[in-house]
Amino acid sequence: MIYVDTLCFHYPHTQRPVFVDFSLHVPAGEFVCILGQSGCGKTTLLHLIAGFLAPIAGRIVVNGLPVCGAGPERAMIFQEATLFPWLTVADNVGFGLRAQGMGKAAITQTVTAQLERMGLAEYAHRYPCHLSGGMRQRVALARVLVLEPPVLLMDEPFSALDIPTRERLQDDLLTLWMTQGNTIIYVTHSAEEAAYLAGRILVFAPSGAIIHQEQVCASWPRDRLGAERLAVEQRLRTVLRNAATS
Ligand SMILES: Nc1ncnc2c1ncn2[C@@H]1O[C@H](COP(=O)(O)OP(=O)(O)OP(=O)(O)O)[C@@H](O)[C@H]1O
Ligand SMILES: [Mg+2]
Repeated sequence: MIYVDTLCFHYPHTQRPVFVDFSLHVPAGEFVCILGQSGCGKTTLLHLIAGFLAPIAGRIVVNGLPVCGAGPERAMIFQEATLFPWLTVADNVGFGLRAQGMGKAAITQTVTAQLERMGLAEYAHRYPCHLSGGMRQRVALARVLVLEPPVLLMDEPFSALDIPTRERLQDDLLTLWMTQGNTIIYVTHSAEEAAYLAGRILVFAPSGAIIHQEQVCASWPRDRLGAERLAVEQRLRTVLRNAATS
Protein backbone atom coordinates (compact mmCIF):
# COMPACT_ATOMS: atom_id res chain seq x y z
CA MET A 1 0.00 0.00 0.00
CA ILE A 2 1.33 3.42 -0.96
CA TYR A 3 -0.12 6.47 0.69
CA VAL A 4 0.98 9.94 -0.43
CA ASP A 5 -0.61 12.63 1.71
CA THR A 6 -0.67 16.38 0.83
CA LEU A 7 2.83 16.19 -0.60
CA CYS A 8 4.63 19.45 -1.43
CA PHE A 9 7.93 19.42 -3.26
CA HIS A 10 10.28 21.68 -5.17
CA TYR A 11 13.91 21.08 -6.08
CA PRO A 12 16.60 22.96 -4.12
CA HIS A 13 17.57 26.31 -5.66
CA THR A 14 14.29 26.54 -7.60
CA GLN A 15 11.05 28.10 -6.46
CA ARG A 16 8.88 26.33 -9.03
CA PRO A 17 6.81 23.75 -7.15
CA VAL A 18 6.61 20.29 -8.70
CA PHE A 19 3.86 19.16 -6.28
CA VAL A 20 1.45 21.21 -4.17
CA ASP A 21 -0.79 19.29 -1.75
CA PHE A 22 -0.60 16.18 -3.92
CA SER A 23 -2.32 13.06 -2.57
CA LEU A 24 -2.48 9.53 -3.93
CA HIS A 25 -3.48 6.19 -2.48
CA VAL A 26 -2.42 2.96 -4.19
CA PRO A 27 -3.82 -0.17 -2.52
CA ALA A 28 -1.56 -3.23 -2.19
CA GLY A 29 -1.35 -5.25 -5.40
CA GLU A 30 -2.64 -2.48 -7.69
CA PHE A 31 -0.97 -1.80 -11.05
CA VAL A 32 -1.11 1.96 -11.68
CA CYS A 33 0.18 3.69 -14.80
CA ILE A 34 0.99 7.40 -14.86
CA LEU A 35 0.90 9.46 -18.04
CA GLY A 36 1.58 13.15 -18.54
CA GLN A 37 3.65 15.47 -20.62
CA SER A 38 7.36 15.95 -20.10
CA GLY A 39 8.24 17.86 -16.95
CA CYS A 40 4.96 17.29 -15.08
CA GLY A 41 6.69 15.44 -12.21
CA LYS A 42 6.33 11.70 -12.95
CA THR A 43 9.97 10.80 -12.28
CA THR A 44 10.06 13.13 -9.29
CA LEU A 45 7.09 11.33 -7.74
CA LEU A 46 8.78 7.93 -8.18
CA HIS A 47 12.00 9.28 -6.64
CA LEU A 48 10.05 10.66 -3.67
CA ILE A 49 8.31 7.30 -3.09
CA ALA A 50 11.66 5.49 -3.56
CA GLY A 51 13.13 7.76 -0.88
CA PHE A 52 15.79 9.28 -3.17
CA LEU A 53 14.22 12.70 -2.54
CA ALA A 54 12.51 14.04 0.59
CA PRO A 55 9.21 15.97 0.59
CA ILE A 56 9.18 19.62 1.65
CA ALA A 57 5.83 18.96 3.35
CA GLY A 58 3.34 16.12 3.57
CA ARG A 59 4.19 12.47 4.03
CA ILE A 60 4.64 9.22 2.15
CA VAL A 61 3.80 5.93 3.81
CA VAL A 62 4.54 2.53 2.23
CA ASN A 63 3.12 -0.62 3.77
CA GLY A 64 2.46 1.24 7.01
CA LEU A 65 5.95 2.75 7.39
CA PRO A 66 6.87 6.38 6.65
CA VAL A 67 9.40 6.68 3.84
CA CYS A 68 12.62 8.30 5.03
CA GLY A 69 15.21 6.97 2.57
CA ALA A 70 15.61 4.10 0.15
CA GLY A 71 14.51 0.64 1.28
CA PRO A 72 14.58 -2.90 -0.14
CA GLU A 73 10.77 -3.14 -0.17
CA ARG A 74 10.70 -0.39 -2.87
CA ALA A 75 12.56 -1.29 -6.07
CA MET A 76 13.10 1.18 -8.88
CA ILE A 77 13.53 0.23 -12.53
CA PHE A 78 14.93 2.93 -14.79
CA GLN A 79 14.64 3.57 -18.52
CA GLU A 80 18.23 2.42 -19.08
CA ALA A 81 19.29 -0.93 -17.62
CA THR A 82 21.90 -0.32 -14.92
CA LEU A 83 23.83 -3.59 -14.68
CA PHE A 84 27.27 -4.18 -13.20
CA PRO A 85 29.46 -4.62 -16.30
CA TRP A 86 32.04 -6.74 -14.46
CA LEU A 87 29.48 -9.34 -13.36
CA THR A 88 27.88 -12.06 -15.48
CA VAL A 89 24.13 -12.11 -16.05
CA ALA A 90 23.71 -14.72 -13.29
CA ASP A 91 25.84 -12.71 -10.84
CA ASN A 92 23.96 -9.51 -11.67
CA VAL A 93 20.62 -11.23 -11.00
CA GLY A 94 21.95 -12.78 -7.78
CA PHE A 95 23.55 -9.56 -6.53
CA GLY A 96 20.63 -8.41 -4.34
CA LEU A 97 20.10 -11.91 -2.93
CA ARG A 98 23.79 -12.04 -1.90
CA ALA A 99 23.43 -8.63 -0.28
CA GLN A 100 20.44 -9.99 1.66
CA GLY A 101 22.63 -12.83 2.97
CA MET A 102 21.09 -15.74 1.06
CA GLY A 103 23.32 -18.84 0.84
CA LYS A 104 25.19 -19.74 -2.35
CA ALA A 105 23.15 -22.85 -3.23
CA ALA A 106 19.83 -21.06 -2.70
CA ILE A 107 21.01 -18.11 -4.83
CA THR A 108 22.01 -20.44 -7.68
CA GLN A 109 18.63 -22.16 -7.53
CA THR A 110 16.62 -18.92 -7.37
CA VAL A 111 18.63 -17.20 -10.10
CA THR A 112 18.47 -20.23 -12.41
CA ALA A 113 14.68 -20.44 -12.00
CA GLN A 114 14.26 -16.69 -12.67
CA LEU A 115 16.51 -16.79 -15.75
CA GLU A 116 14.56 -19.75 -17.10
CA ARG A 117 11.23 -18.02 -16.47
CA MET A 118 12.44 -15.01 -18.41
CA GLY A 119 14.05 -16.90 -21.29
CA LEU A 120 17.56 -15.86 -20.23
CA ALA A 121 19.00 -19.20 -19.15
CA GLU A 122 21.40 -19.49 -22.09
CA TYR A 123 22.90 -16.08 -21.28
CA ALA A 124 23.63 -16.82 -17.60
CA HIS A 125 27.41 -16.73 -18.04
CA ARG A 126 27.59 -13.83 -20.51
CA TYR A 127 28.55 -10.29 -19.53
CA PRO A 128 26.24 -7.29 -20.09
CA CYS A 129 28.43 -5.98 -22.94
CA HIS A 130 27.54 -9.13 -24.93
CA LEU A 131 23.79 -8.49 -24.70
CA SER A 132 21.42 -6.33 -26.71
CA GLY A 133 19.64 -3.41 -25.04
CA GLY A 134 16.43 -5.45 -24.74
CA MET A 135 18.24 -8.36 -23.09
CA ARG A 136 20.03 -6.01 -20.69
CA GLN A 137 16.68 -4.55 -19.69
CA ARG A 138 15.29 -8.06 -19.21
CA VAL A 139 18.26 -8.89 -16.93
CA ALA A 140 17.67 -5.65 -14.99
CA LEU A 141 14.04 -6.66 -14.55
CA ALA A 142 15.05 -10.20 -13.47
CA ARG A 143 17.50 -8.75 -10.93
CA VAL A 144 14.70 -6.78 -9.30
CA LEU A 145 11.95 -9.39 -9.60
CA VAL A 146 14.07 -12.09 -8.00
CA LEU A 147 13.90 -10.06 -4.79
CA GLU A 148 10.07 -10.10 -4.98
CA PRO A 149 9.83 -6.46 -3.85
CA PRO A 150 6.37 -5.54 -2.56
CA VAL A 151 6.58 -2.23 -4.43
CA LEU A 152 7.90 -1.70 -7.97
CA LEU A 153 8.52 1.83 -9.23
CA MET A 154 9.09 1.77 -12.98
CA ASP A 155 10.14 4.84 -14.96
CA GLU A 156 9.51 4.34 -18.70
CA PRO A 157 11.31 0.99 -18.41
CA PHE A 158 10.64 -0.32 -21.92
CA SER A 159 10.41 2.90 -23.92
CA ALA A 160 13.80 2.56 -25.62
CA LEU A 161 13.09 -0.96 -26.92
CA ASP A 162 11.78 -2.19 -30.25
CA ILE A 163 8.09 -3.15 -30.33
CA PRO A 164 8.39 -6.98 -30.16
CA THR A 165 10.88 -6.78 -27.26
CA ARG A 166 8.73 -4.22 -25.47
CA GLU A 167 5.62 -6.37 -25.83
CA ARG A 168 7.51 -9.45 -24.62
CA LEU A 169 8.73 -7.59 -21.54
CA GLN A 170 5.26 -6.18 -20.84
CA ASP A 171 3.95 -9.75 -20.84
CA ASP A 172 6.85 -10.96 -18.63
CA LEU A 173 6.04 -8.18 -16.19
CA LEU A 174 2.31 -8.95 -16.15
CA THR A 175 2.99 -12.66 -15.57
CA LEU A 176 5.28 -11.90 -12.66
CA TRP A 177 2.92 -9.31 -11.22
CA MET A 178 0.07 -11.84 -11.34
CA THR A 179 2.30 -14.35 -9.52
CA GLN A 180 3.91 -12.02 -6.96
CA GLY A 181 1.08 -9.51 -6.45
CA ASN A 182 3.43 -6.49 -6.24
CA THR A 183 2.13 -2.94 -6.02
CA ILE A 184 3.33 -1.24 -9.22
CA ILE A 185 3.57 2.39 -10.27
CA TYR A 186 4.61 2.47 -13.91
CA VAL A 187 5.39 5.72 -15.72
CA THR A 188 4.96 5.78 -19.48
CA HIS A 189 4.40 8.18 -22.37
CA SER A 190 2.39 5.54 -24.22
CA ALA A 191 -1.41 5.54 -23.91
CA GLU A 192 -1.33 2.17 -25.67
CA GLU A 193 0.98 0.67 -23.06
CA ALA A 194 -1.01 2.11 -20.14
CA ALA A 195 -4.26 0.70 -21.52
CA TYR A 196 -2.65 -2.73 -21.91
CA LEU A 197 -0.99 -2.92 -18.49
CA ALA A 198 -2.79 -0.90 -15.88
CA GLY A 199 -5.68 -1.52 -13.54
CA ARG A 200 -5.85 2.25 -13.00
CA ILE A 201 -4.44 5.06 -15.10
CA LEU A 202 -3.62 8.54 -13.85
CA VAL A 203 -2.95 11.50 -16.13
CA PHE A 204 -0.96 14.40 -14.68
CA ALA A 205 -1.42 18.02 -15.74
CA PRO A 206 1.75 20.04 -16.41
CA SER A 207 1.23 21.43 -12.86
CA GLY A 208 1.64 17.92 -11.35
CA ALA A 209 -2.05 17.67 -10.42
CA ILE A 210 -4.04 14.59 -11.42
CA ILE A 211 -6.42 15.73 -14.15
CA HIS A 212 -7.86 12.40 -15.16
CA GLN A 213 -8.04 8.93 -13.75
CA GLU A 214 -9.76 5.81 -14.85
CA GLN A 215 -10.15 2.25 -13.78
CA VAL A 216 -9.62 -0.29 -16.56
CA CYS A 217 -12.10 -3.10 -15.98
CA ALA A 218 -10.77 -5.64 -18.52
CA SER A 219 -9.05 -8.60 -16.84
CA TRP A 220 -5.55 -9.83 -17.72
CA PRO A 221 -4.16 -11.08 -20.03
CA ARG A 222 -5.68 -8.49 -22.35
CA ASP A 223 -6.18 -8.51 -26.07
CA ARG A 224 -3.86 -5.86 -27.53
CA LEU A 225 -6.32 -5.28 -30.36
CA GLY A 226 -9.48 -5.67 -28.26
CA ALA A 227 -12.19 -2.98 -28.47
CA GLU A 228 -12.02 -2.15 -24.77
CA ARG A 229 -8.26 -1.55 -24.73
CA LEU A 230 -8.50 0.56 -27.89
CA ALA A 231 -11.34 2.64 -26.39
CA VAL A 232 -9.28 3.35 -23.23
CA GLU A 233 -6.28 4.32 -25.38
CA GLN A 234 -8.44 6.67 -27.46
CA ARG A 235 -9.84 8.37 -24.33
CA LEU A 236 -6.34 8.82 -22.91
CA ARG A 237 -5.08 10.31 -26.17
CA THR A 238 -7.89 12.87 -26.06
CA VAL A 239 -7.15 13.77 -22.42
CA LEU A 240 -3.43 14.15 -23.19
CA ARG A 241 -4.13 16.28 -26.27
CA ASN A 242 -6.48 18.54 -24.32
CA ALA A 243 -4.00 18.85 -21.43
CA ALA A 244 -1.25 19.91 -23.86
CA THR A 245 -3.36 22.64 -25.45
CA SER A 246 -5.10 24.02 -22.32
N1 LIG B 1 17.50 17.75 -10.37
C1 LIG B 1 16.62 18.70 -10.67
N2 LIG B 1 16.84 19.98 -10.29
C2 LIG B 1 15.96 20.97 -10.57
N3 LIG B 1 14.80 20.77 -11.23
C3 LIG B 1 14.52 19.52 -11.64
C4 LIG B 1 15.42 18.43 -11.39
N4 LIG B 1 14.87 17.30 -11.91
C5 LIG B 1 13.70 17.67 -12.48
N5 LIG B 1 13.49 18.99 -12.31
C6 LIG B 1 12.30 19.74 -12.73
O1 LIG B 1 11.17 19.20 -12.05
C7 LIG B 1 10.05 19.11 -12.93
C8 LIG B 1 9.56 17.68 -12.99
O2 LIG B 1 10.58 16.89 -13.60
P1 LIG B 1 10.42 15.32 -13.82
O3 LIG B 1 11.75 14.81 -14.26
O4 LIG B 1 9.82 14.72 -12.62
O5 LIG B 1 9.37 15.28 -15.03
P2 LIG B 1 8.80 14.02 -15.84
O6 LIG B 1 7.31 14.13 -15.77
O7 LIG B 1 9.43 12.78 -15.36
O8 LIG B 1 9.27 14.35 -17.33
P3 LIG B 1 9.69 13.34 -18.53
O9 LIG B 1 8.41 12.82 -19.09
O10 LIG B 1 10.42 14.22 -19.48
O11 LIG B 1 10.58 12.28 -17.96
C9 LIG B 1 10.50 19.70 -14.27
O12 LIG B 1 10.13 21.06 -14.31
C10 LIG B 1 12.02 19.57 -14.22
O13 LIG B 1 12.64 20.58 -14.97
MG1 LIG C 1 10.72 11.38 -16.23
